[in-house]
Amino acid sequence: MGHIKAENLTLGYSRKRVIQGIDLSIKKGEFLSIIGPSGVGKSTFLMGLNATTSIIDGRLRVLGKNLETIKHHDLKALRAKIGVIFQGFNLVGRLSVFDNIASGMLHRKPLVSALFRHYSGDQYAEIYEYMQVVGIEQEALSRCDRLSGGQKQRVAIARAIAQKPEIILADEPISSLDPVSARNVMETLKNANEKYGITVVSNLHQLDYAREFCSRVIGLNGGRIVYDGPPDGLCAATVAQIYHKNDSLLPAGDCFCVPYTRLPLQAMAAAHP
Ligand SMILES: Nc1ncnc2c1ncn2[C@@H]1O[C@H](COP(=O)(O)OP(=O)(O)OP(=O)(O)O)[C@@H](O)[C@H]1O
Ligand SMILES: [Mg+2]
Repeated sequence: MGHIKAENLTLGYSRKRVIQGIDLSIKKGEFLSIIGPSGVGKSTFLMGLNATTSIIDGRLRVLGKNLETIKHHDLKALRAKIGVIFQGFNLVGRLSVFDNIASGMLHRKPLVSALFRHYSGDQYAEIYEYMQVVGIEQEALSRCDRLSGGQKQRVAIARAIAQKPEIILADEPISSLDPVSARNVMETLKNANEKYGITVVSNLHQLDYAREFCSRVIGLNGGRIVYDGPPDGLCAATVAQIYHKNDSLLPAGDCFCVPYTRLPLQAMAAAHP
């Protein structure tokens, strides 16, 4: 069974259908990027995976729970297993790097010790490990509002890891970063993916990073999946199809890639059971 499975899924806002009838299955441990033009619904899809955007139609199963019928209590437990990294970092600026990362484990701590920010020796060691994973241990006691964008993003990743999530959702984690910091952040996410087996689903605008770091790429256009495959399959015609302004398909030209929408359904099912 897929870690995440969407069937004929339509997501959106009140009457606005943004993602329209998609089928998708994501396995544990995948590092997947979602690409597509601005406004196509990448964030809507990503936030749909932790039930922040509404399911208008179809089914969405995440970590064994059906999101179209999930109860409040189950949703809270599910969200604890899903770390989210936002483009704007969402850190508490006046708190230290250590305290921001530690806040990721609050749901695993008793209320009183959480309130007083009391940590056991093991928890200190755990937080230190996460700081090392993202390479921010030198700044452990610095206030987060005094860090650079790349450093803040690494703190946000460490906080997500501290949650001990099964899935990390990253919405354009590198869009505001310079190339060196961007590479650093992608390597950090890859490291979390490989070291802890966390499934990572990330929206990206940078195709070169999607090619280099991700095991699978989903291309969205017109609310639908127009590409689902390995980064190697992103030839020029496929990229043009993904970023095409209209919903209509471009001819594949002299490229050998088969556009996703032209693959037989059985082949797609076999590729992503
Ligand atoms: N809260 C909201 N209420 C109503 N419509 C929304 C809301 N958030 C997004 N939309 C609309 O949904 C569509 C998809 O938006 P979304 O943010 O998912 O796109 P995106 O692919 O992530 O774009 P970008 O690459 O610019 O981040 C857009 O038309 C947008 O205006
Ligand atoms: Mg977005």
